[in-house]
Amino acid sequence: MELVGVSEIAELAGVSRQAVSNWRSRSKNFPSPLAELSSGPVWLKENIENWLKNKDGKMTKVVSFINLKGGVGKTTTTVAIAEFLALEHQKRVLVVDLDPQTNATIALIHESVWEERDNAGLTLLQMFRDKLDRTNKFDVNQAIIQGVSNLKIPRLSLLPSSLGLIELQDYYLHGLTQKNPAVNKDNILKSALKPVLDNYDYVLIDCPPNLQFITTNGINVSTGYVIPTIPDILSTYGIPQIVGRVETFSKENGIDIQPLGIIISKMREIGLHRSKYEQLKREAAEGKKPPIFDRVIDEAAQIAESADVTSNVNTLRQKYGYGNNYANYAALTEEFIWRCQ
Ligand SMILES: Nc1ncnc2c1ncn2[C@@H]1O[C@H](COP(=O)(O)OP(=O)(O)O)[C@@H](O)[C@H]1O
Ligand SMILES: [Mg+2]
Repeated sequence: MELVGVSEIAELAGVSRQAVSNWRSRSKNFPSPLAELSSGPVWLKENIENWLKNKDGKMTKVVSFINLKGGVGKTTTTVAIAEFLALEHQKRVLVVDLDPQTNATIALIHESVWEERDNAGLTLLQMFRDKLDRTNKFDVNQAIIQGVSNLKIPRLSLLPSSLGLIELQDYYLHGLTQKNPAVNKDNILKSALKPVLDNYDYVLIDCPPNLQFITTNGINVSTGYVIPTIPDILSTYGIPQIVGRVETFSKENGIDIQPLGIIISKMREIGLHRSKYEQLKREAAEGKKPPIFDRVIDEAAQIAESADVTSNVNTLRQKYGYGNNYANYAALTEEFIWRCQ
């Protein structure tokens, strides 16, 4: 952890100490000091650097998609929002597939391409493995694939996952303690992404359905997170645990990760879904749950079929359906943009 005081901030930003004082008093979102020392307040250097970038509207939004349950639409929502951001809003987007199930990867590139790259050490498996083997083989620039999806979107890139992570995650933490105890287990993705983060407007991270070290690697690099869920009892059950865990993690690490909201997906017109949805909205209004995105994604066959990267489509309308699905994803993405601000 690197700390800075007022003078260092002034130097970092190339402004006077007075200008820094003005920022502190006038700018609502200026980071709070980590501590007040006798020499004056000190901040985490990283928070200040992020604020300085954000000040000019340039900061990369890094958003994790988290739910403890599988099958709730995390991957589908991540991929759709990424495609809409890149195609309809001309944003530069990176999808990071952190889930060992590799679904976002397979939704965005052909399986044979994945296999080739996985064998060549060009997936996240190599990034994690390097820490166990004390090697430096993973090259993030080479691992990122540009122009992915069957819509061939130039501004959309993918950092692919690997099925190999399924096995690796079982012995990883024990292995690290044995072989490389100095490694911060939550900081592996963050340090790997650092050199490329500025190349993107949005980085969307598809997390595995748990809160273990792979997910905390996603949380650690994020500026915000969303919770995709089906509006039913089992899918929403773990939401307080997610919110609590991220809050604790933020505090422990001196970083700021905001809950951007709950995205309702695979909604069916049945009483159970409707009443759960209404309950979530009430709880959000009372501040007991994160906000609920206004736009809801319905359960639809064409959305399920969108996961097939080999299907021949040319536009978002063709891919997601000409009816409500397209309009709902378009509106959801616009909401996503303003909730990220
Ligand atoms: N809105 C939807 N309508 C119909 N099927 C969907 C929808 N969203 C996702 N699916 C399908 O449901 C399954 C689980 O979705 P997925 O996005 O993989 O969830 P998760 O990543 O949370 O495990 C997949 O087969 C997917 O194609
Ligand atoms: Mg998934």
